[in-house]
Amino acid sequence: MKKIDTNLLSIPLPDLARSDFSKDFLWGCSTSSYQIEGATDVDGRVESIWDRFSAQPGHISDGSTGKIACDHYHRWPEDLDLGRALGLNAYRFSIAWPRIFSASGGRANQKGLDFYSRLVDGMLERGLEPWATLYHWDLPQSLQDQGGWNQRETVAQFVEFAHVMSHHLGDRVKNWITHNEPWCTAMHGNLDGVHAPGIKNLKIALQVCHHVLLSHGLAIPAIKANVPDAKVGIALSLHPLQAASEQQADVDAMVRHDGLRNRWFLDPLHGRGYPQDVWQLCGSDVPVVGVGDLDVIATPTDFLGVNYYFPEVIANAPAAMPLQTQVIVMPNRERTAFGWEVAPESLATLLQRIAHDYQHAPIYLTENGSTYEDKVEGDGSINDLERRNYFIRHLAVLRDVIAQGVLVKGYFAWSLMDNFEWAEGYRRRFGMVYVDFKTQKRTVKSSGHWYASFLQEQK
Ligand code: FCB
Repeated sequence: MKKIDTNLLSIPLPDLARSDFSKDFLWGCSTSSYQIEGATDVDGRVESIWDRFSAQPGHISDGSTGKIACDHYHRWPEDLDLGRALGLNAYRFSIAWPRIFSASGGRANQKGLDFYSRLVDGMLERGLEPWATLYHWDLPQSLQDQGGWNQRETVAQFVEFAHVMSHHLGDRVKNWITHNEPWCTAMHGNLDGVHAPGIKNLKIALQVCHHVLLSHGLAIPAIKANVPDAKVGIALSLHPLQAASEQQADVDAMVRHDGLRNRWFLDPLHGRGYPQDVWQLCGSDVPVVGVGDLDVIATPTDFLGVNYYFPEVIANAPAAMPLQTQVIVMPNRERTAFGWEVAPESLATLLQRIAHDYQHAPIYLTENGSTYEDKVEGDGSINDLERRNYFIRHLAVLRDVIAQGVLVKGYFAWSLMDNFEWAEGYRRRFGMVYVDFKTQKRTVKSSGHWYASFLQEQK
């Protein structure tokens, strides 16, 4: 262990080298369409739920929208150049359904298809293996107007979208993620309402969740029919949990909380149906599940995408319906500027649990990252040593977990560049590349320079 060269944190940093990982390990960054693309009203793109939601006062903490964002729609060659300069060999992006969707029910929007075709070609030219996410939260508003994911019809629409995209890009894109973080789609979008479409209703949230999972299962064969050698998976946001105390009530609360946070997704995807403990607690709010739906949801995948950010501490809270649980913010724990606990060792707990309880196909860390208050120095540099250290510490844990036998085959840092961080707007920067949103100037931060030098060590 060597001490880090900064007084920001007196935390010892582990030694880490790219050669600690296998030669075919994937090293990427993740992004998503609404967070970076901007250009929301060009080339036939239709309105998305995030355009509508962010334009309404009070939803985004700095009053911003994704209308311009990183202007990636126009600046993508420069952005992919940055990815290549960092030394990435993979790049995870998402496809904006509103660029493809035809509100009139006609053919897919050719200009949208052309954009992603150019983007994918750009990745391949730069040695970046494309990892496409089909749904990273930007639902066409016209589908939401008909009920959105609460309506079973949206499932069929999504499967058609999966078919169109895999048909169009499948000669070049072999890695497909159906959904990003269904928990957020369902719960932030429809239970606490902090994300688009801003609904607060448990019954709707659970039905949305079911339809999202069903659409995942139905999209798998649709993609594989077009791309026989495709690898298809889903990216889940998963949280290792701790009980707030050793008291049985808190331990039981943690189990209940886990039921909706983690098992509600992992169980049905692995053929176990919805967790019955939580199902009972949800009473009449449980979703309508059609005959055969659970079999569809359990369609085997080629990998599991895990987005890991932070663990949670859970206490019993009898008044909090339906789970009677509460997330506790423990004092004196290391946190990012978002307040998310920094706990690299919990990544090990999480991955070991998945391997032990679910024995899934290979895992890819499809997101992991942190936000801190970046300061631009007089010389223009951004010395984000905390973010750099965050990556190093998490990667060291990942290396050790792999050595213990958990099959993890790639790591995608969140994110390539600062972007529109949903309800937080532009206040929360997660990038390895700093974006000046007034000028659109990109500057590689210290964390990005570190990633590049780390990746250079062995190709
Ligand atoms: C994840 C999202 C991603 C980004 C990070 C910080 O939950 O998938 O879009 O907002 O959090």
